[in-house]
Amino acid sequence: MTSSPKPNPAASGSGPSADGPLLSLRWAENKLLLLDQRLLPGEIVFLELTTPEEVWDAIHGMKVRGAPAIGIAAAYGVVLGALRYAGAPAGWLPAVNQAAAHLATSRPTAVNLFWALGRMKERAEALSAGPDADNLAALTQGLLEEAKSIHLEDEEVCRRIGESALPLLKDGMGVLTHCNAGGLATARYGTALAPIYLAHEQGMTLRVYADETRPVLQGARLTAFELQQAGVDVTLLCDNMAGMVMQKGWVEAVIVGTDRVAANGDVANKIGTYSLAVLAKAHGIPFYVASPLSTIDLDTESGKDIPIEERPDTEVTEAFGKRTAPEGIKVFNPSFDVTPNELVTAIITEKGIVRAPYRESLARLFADK
Ligand code: MRU
Repeated sequence: MTSSPKPNPAASGSGPSADGPLLSLRWAENKLLLLDQRLLPGEIVFLELTTPEEVWDAIHGMKVRGAPAIGIAAAYGVVLGALRYAGAPAGWLPAVNQAAAHLATSRPTAVNLFWALGRMKERAEALSAGPDADNLAALTQGLLEEAKSIHLEDEEVCRRIGESALPLLKDGMGVLTHCNAGGLATARYGTALAPIYLAHEQGMTLRVYADETRPVLQGARLTAFELQQAGVDVTLLCDNMAGMVMQKGWVEAVIVGTDRVAANGDVANKIGTYSLAVLAKAHGIPFYVASPLSTIDLDTESGKDIPIEERPDTEVTEAFGKRTAPEGIKVFNPSFDVTPNELVTAIITEKGIVRAPYRESLARLFADK
């Protein structure tokens, strides 16, 4: 059934700064080339994925992670489902929908997954009702174009998020971030890290503090790595050091990404984000959330309605390949938490910065759609 994805030796070991930043995914020759983020920063290995099941496994196993990147990978996963379909044209749409339904079960919290799959299903339906309904190659080509648009648009959206946020930054400022909402979590630039990259491009000097982000260490393994590769001044902290760093006056802004923003402005993001927001409030530091419109879910009323993924106990009971907790210990391992809207100073989007009351300001972002 599911063959194990092959590492791509041609891509393995290619340096991140050799020809621009290290990109988390690429489509080539009817395959999804996916950077295995579980191996960073030690190894740079691209997997060649050829089935929706392999993409499901990569998302579920966090080889690709970060809300926008998950959505892009899933979109290509649907294309892989269409590519392997070789039956009668009437069966194409059900086969595509089946691949999408399977991919939708890979992770529950990041709404970009469902947003991207929704776009792919809509496009598939339109194509199968169009003039090429009997031409499998044309149908699948149309679907590939949609996945490529989702991918390309994300790069543009991230850049615009960076531009929206730039006025919030000043030369010499200290910025704290959590998890990885950088280029690796998106097509390019990231969301929370986009303004940092743009500021850096413009010659501004920022001091970035990256929380290591237990238990999967996206801050240490990914954020510290990609900012260092880009030449940004970055200091790695254990999660429990953020309060002290704020107390010392080293942080003038917190900027994080998000996996889902509810209609009332409550924000789900990597576990530990809520504690940071409370700390930021206690120290009078603005707490910003960078979010593309694809992460804003007006159908989810409030944070209470956001499904929070719980991950295996071993993420907590093991570290550095060794057991670090007693056998049989009870573990609670939610992957995300919800920051209530009253702790969010502003949400930075590709259409500008929005502030409370969020129910109104977020709805306005979609008013002209
Ligand atoms: O579990 P992960 O690594 O997928 O969680 C990622 C985050 O929480 C990010 O902050 C979020 O997806 C935004 S990425 C631009």
